[in-house]
Amino acid sequence: MALKLSDLGQAVLDTEYAVRGPIVARANELEKAGKRIIYCNIGNPQALGQKPITYVRQVLALVEYPELLDKAEGIFPPDTVEIARTILKESKFGVGAYSDSKGLLFVRKAIANFIQNRDSYGGVTVEADAEHIYLTDGASKGVQTALMMLLNTPNDGIMIPVPQYPLYSATITLYGGKQIGYFLDEKSGWALSQSMLESSLAEARAKGVQAKAICIINPGNPTGAVLTRDNIAMVIDFAKRHNLTILADEVYQENIYRPEDKFVSFARVMTELGEKEVSLFSFHSCSKGFLGECGQRGGYMEVRNVPAEVVAQITKLMSVSLCSNLVGQLVTYLMVKPPKPGDPSYEAYEAEKQGILSELKKRAVLLSEGLNKIPGISCQPIAGAMYAFPSITLPEGRTDEEYCMALLESEGICLVSGSGFGQMAGTAHFRTTILPPTDQIEEVVRRIAHFQSMWR
Ligand SMILES: Cc1ncc(COP(=O)(O)O)c(C=O)c1O
Repeated sequence: MALKLSDLGQAVLDTEYAVRGPIVARANELEKAGKRIIYCNIGNPQALGQKPITYVRQVLALVEYPELLDKAEGIFPPDTVEIARTILKESKFGVGAYSDSKGLLFVRKAIANFIQNRDSYGGVTVEADAEHIYLTDGASKGVQTALMMLLNTPNDGIMIPVPQYPLYSATITLYGGKQIGYFLDEKSGWALSQSMLESSLAEARAKGVQAKAICIINPGNPTGAVLTRDNIAMVIDFAKRHNLTILADEVYQENIYRPEDKFVSFARVMTELGEKEVSLFSFHSCSKGFLGECGQRGGYMEVRNVPAEVVAQITKLMSVSLCSNLVGQLVTYLMVKPPKPGDPSYEAYEAEKQGILSELKKRAVLLSEGLNKIPGISCQPIAGAMYAFPSITLPEGRTDEEYCMALLESEGICLVSGSGFGQMAGTAHFRTTILPPTDQIEEVVRRIAHFQSMWR
């Protein structure tokens, strides 16, 4: 007899991932039937017209097909040829062979260098060790590995922000743990406060849930909030007092739009504080920033203050799937080692990078200002990441899922309902990306305004 639903594990059945849930399935159906859909449901930049960075693709083309190297003169800039030759030499066997379980050593060394250069300043030197860096298939696989390591009994819990990116809620459910939500304060731009952390932890303990770790997404998805250095120091102190591991999701570190905000890493603040006891897992990705290379599945996880025997267990877990994909590892290499001033590709690279980031910045303002002009919608400033998460006033008895489904049917705009990310009881939201091209963002705002004025 064929496999039945009831044959599957309960954890699998309970796992939900709203970003690709029923609203998106309906959008695909409508599109097949000929309706024009603007997809604002997922942070997938190249699916919405963002061009890949030429330098990255030129190097990838050469390493994928090394026969091109001798014919590349006059077609590819000389630094792309040089870096492709270096990659092929360092990787020994090219992109068609497995690497070490942790990933290619020269890539991990380049990441360690990147972290040191990103985080060191003045008298503070942030060290990073290539042996504590793991290449992963996107940041997702790193997050899943960390959660798998941490969850042991059904009463083990992970503190996650509310609202959060559903990778966390889904994976915690899948691995049989408990979510311990801590609320972000919408009215103050989705700020993170110590009192919220303390009260959510106390509530979990009262229910017999043991917190193992706290996850922080900075800049935030879906909130767009950017943490200050003092906020990060507060979280480290909180984690230390309560014996928690920190999971720092820093995939949007390049997506910061306001001059008053700055990305500060957990690794840097831990070093400043001389913190040696709190374990830290931090995650980065090729999918976001200005590369937007979601399909290449590149990313890394760096671990700090983790004893050698635990590092050995992580390596063992990674070795079960042999290694992350090699092309993703190389995109990560190119992300952390961009062309330098004076290199033949430098100017074009910078122009493409600034072009993408300035468009995103423009759209962040356009979208939040546009949404705020619609009666019944209130949107916090989009300081970072790629999303808006406005609150909406709904007609009596209606839910935000119904709102998003009806908006899709009527206007062809595909959003994700707030309930997929978690929200304060009695509030309703949706999440939209800022990724559609500028003229389409204007259309999205116009269509939502039209829908909002007539939906009952
Ligand atoms: C906060 C956050 N973390 C992790 C990811 C996973 O990205 P990837 O696996 O493509 O690196 C995403 C993707 O949208 C995200 O928003």
